[in-house]
Amino acid sequence: MTKPRVAVLISGRGSNMMSLIEAAAAPGFPVEIAVVISNRPDAHGLARAQACNIPTRSLDHKAFPDRAAFDAALDAVLEEEQVTLVCLAGFMRLLTSGFTQKWAGRMINIHPALLPSFKGLHTHERALAEGVKIHGATVHFVTAEMDVGPIIMQAAVPVLEADTPDTLAARVLAQEHVIYPAALRLVAEGRARLDGARVAIDEFEITPPALVVPPAP
Ligand code: GRF
Repeated sequence: MTKPRVAVLISGRGSNMMSLIEAAAAPGFPVEIAVVISNRPDAHGLARAQACNIPTRSLDHKAFPDRAAFDAALDAVLEEEQVTLVCLAGFMRLLTSGFTQKWAGRMINIHPALLPSFKGLHTHERALAEGVKIHGATVHFVTAEMDVGPIIMQAAVPVLEADTPDTLAARVLAQEHVIYPAALRLVAEGRARLDGARVAIDEFEITPPALVVPPAP
């Protein structure tokens, strides 16, 4: 049986993309990573995907007159590649509402904060500045509004007294790499379904929809 074809959209180093590629390489994972697409031709993640024999496409957003034209080209690549699910993994472009509507329920994103807190950029700096004691990451369905879509899975990590943005980012990133493949599996298997503004999660055996990681000893 052929597996659903997933596109991973990146703009940079692609560590979350790698976590998806590695998970999908395991027997029994329910999707195939069919293509990696970057809006930046120099994204390091492109070379990493190629090293894993994953086809890559580069769509330089600067070559398009506006967002709608870029999104139309992106949509054409997704159709051409017969993609049915899209994973944004450090993809640093806002998408038009037409595009997000077309892919509603079939496009997910990972955000380095516990949404709905700390939408947008520089989440680790802002978490430290606010003095929160728990921080984390969220996988959610993508809607027209940035970092707002229905939540599929979250991981929480402690914020330690000595943290810098870099140490906190590293602790969160390690959990991103756990929950992104797990959330993709739930979506691909139809066990995480859009239910209005929420995501209904069916019975799970292995992967909880939230992970709480204890402080290091
Ligand atoms: C990750 O922290 C992700 O949550 C955010 O951007 C970063 C991308 O990192 N959206 P990488 O390219 O996956 O290494």
